[in-house]
Amino acid sequence: MNYQPLKYIYQSSAIPDAYTLLLLHGTGGDENDLLPLAKHFGNNFNVLSLRGNVSEAGMPRFFKRLGMGVFDEQDLKFRTEEMVAFITQLAEQENFDIKKIVALGYSNGANIAGSALLTHPDFLAGAILYRPMQPFKVVDKNIKNTNNVPVFMSNGKSDPTINPADTAKLVTSLTNAGYNLSNHLLPVGHQLVQQDIQLSVEWYKKNFK
Ligand code: MLT
Repeated sequence: MNYQPLKYIYQSSAIPDAYTLLLLHGTGGDENDLLPLAKHFGNNFNVLSLRGNVSEAGMPRFFKRLGMGVFDEQDLKFRTEEMVAFITQLAEQENFDIKKIVALGYSNGANIAGSALLTHPDFLAGAILYRPMQPFKVVDKNIKNTNNVPVFMSNGKSDPTINPADTAKLVTSLTNAGYNLSNHLLPVGHQLVQQDIQLSVEWYKKNFK
């Protein structure tokens, strides 16, 4: 299968050397969904918001799944490569720094961001993962991030869609791969709440001035 372009919205900050916040929506969302959330982080970064190329009964997603929480890992790997190649080419076209991308993903979007962290360890400069889970059954133990890249992650204690064991596996995989993980378990479900935003904004301001 050939790579397809992804639908996107790009908003330049017009600040030289700015970071780019890469927005990755949840299942059934699109590139407009997370734009209001991004405003909580300030305005000194570019925004690149993508729409997943996969459709599940009309709902956009970033990769196929075989059931709830059961991923088509072959498709996930392909879609991760497709997304990384697309962003790399877009960085030239839109003139943003490919070395300064911070992903912000929710649910399905957090899972493809997690996949990028575990297959392309030097691609992202940081990541905010809301409600992620371990994307692969087996993670390559030789994958190492060399820059101690900061990763924020928040999950819900009463989230019916995520097995806590899969969250724990992701924590282990990211830590073993050399990421500087800030992990939060909140007394909530799958939906984002104010506390996710508050904690991640604090984390962002501390790590990306
Ligand atoms: C996924 O498929 O990525 C996760 O189950 C979360 C979701 O999108 O529902």
